[in-house]
Amino acid sequence: MERYRAYLQLTKACNAQCKMCDFWKNEKEVFERDHFFRLIDLLVSEWIKGITFWWWEPFLYEHIYDLIKYAKQKDLNTEIITNGTVIDKEKIKDSIEYIDEILFSIDSWIESVHNKIRWKSFIYKKAVSNLAHISELRKTLNTKLQIIIDTTLQKDNFDTFETVLDLAKEYNTKINFDPVQLIWYWNNREKNWLTLSEDESFILEKRLLNFWKKNSFYLLQSKDSIKRIIRYFKGYKIEDYCTSLNKDVLIDPSWDVLKCWGSSEVVYNIFENKGIKKDKLKMDQSCYSCWFTHVRDDDYFTGYSVTNDVFEWNTY
Ligand SMILES: C[S@@+](CC[C@H](N)C(=O)[O-])C[C@H]1O[C@@H](n2cnc3c(N)ncnc32)[C@H](O)[C@@H]1O
Ligand code: SF4
Repeated sequence: MERYRAYLQLTKACNAQCKMCDFWKNEKEVFERDHFFRLIDLLVSEWIKGITFWWWEPFLYEHIYDLIKYAKQKDLNTEIITNGTVIDKEKIKDSIEYIDEILFSIDSWIESVHNKIRWKSFIYKKAVSNLAHISELRKTLNTKLQIIIDTTLQKDNFDTFETVLDLAKEYNTKINFDPVQLIWYWNNREKNWLTLSEDESFILEKRLLNFWKKNSFYLLQSKDSIKRIIRYFKGYKIEDYCTSLNKDVLIDPSWDVLKCWGSSEVVYNIFENKGIKKDKLKMDQSCYSCWFTHVRDDDYFTGYSVTNDVFEWNTY
């Protein structure tokens, strides 16, 4: 099994100040356009089949629209994870046919809750307005773009997360829930803001299972994935092995390859090594340091199956 998706960071800047995330504290760094074109060429010449533009806020990088088009022309699956607030309505119109998936991080369809989590009062209105715009473009331009609402479950939304269902229905999207992580530079500060009491985790359990029962059509996740989230919040040990180590390569803007989602360790630099070194990416699958759902679930987008340990690139 080999890694297939590159998670690429284009900038170290963010316009939000989310409670659960420390990325916004970074100094802004600007990287030249050609820097990433060269990287995409290199990824294509190796064995990468998909690129996710994400981390900090990818739409703050002015050349992102050109990069999306370039990656698609190279036949890569293209995905973006965004807080949804700085999307240029004209430029996205010209780029939309080159995007396979776009994930909007929206933690609640209650304006005050979402803004409280993201710590800026403009976030909700901008994100929902851009979501509506992209949903409309998808209809008009008849593209196959998948839109997903990505909701980070935590203290402030454990009892209102269901509201994103209305958003999903309104704009014809899918939903993915992820439990908040309290690790290294994701966030290792304010545990009280984020973790649930025993009573709260029981409420979450009831609500999540109920949500899955009634609305699984809208969810990208299996019941097992939902149960894993519940177990995480209840503090149980989770024993499913990590699949991410076989399918993801995390690359920061200076072409450093990070060990994985749960570690800041730099494994090597792509530029210095003149490519991706597969042998350096072999990892211990029994790592239990992070609980992002996609590191232990089947991968909806790539067709990666945990049970069969096979990869069939999804061509929906
Ligand atoms: C780090 S952000 C980068 C992309 C973009 N800025 C955004 O917010 O979508 C990617 C995703 O990670 C989630 N996230 C942030 N901090 C987290 C944490 N401590 N644990 C789990 N997920 C987190 C965000 O809610 C978002 O859905
Ligand atoms: S979660 Fe995304 S939007 Fe929020 S501070 Fe982190 S990088 Fe920025």
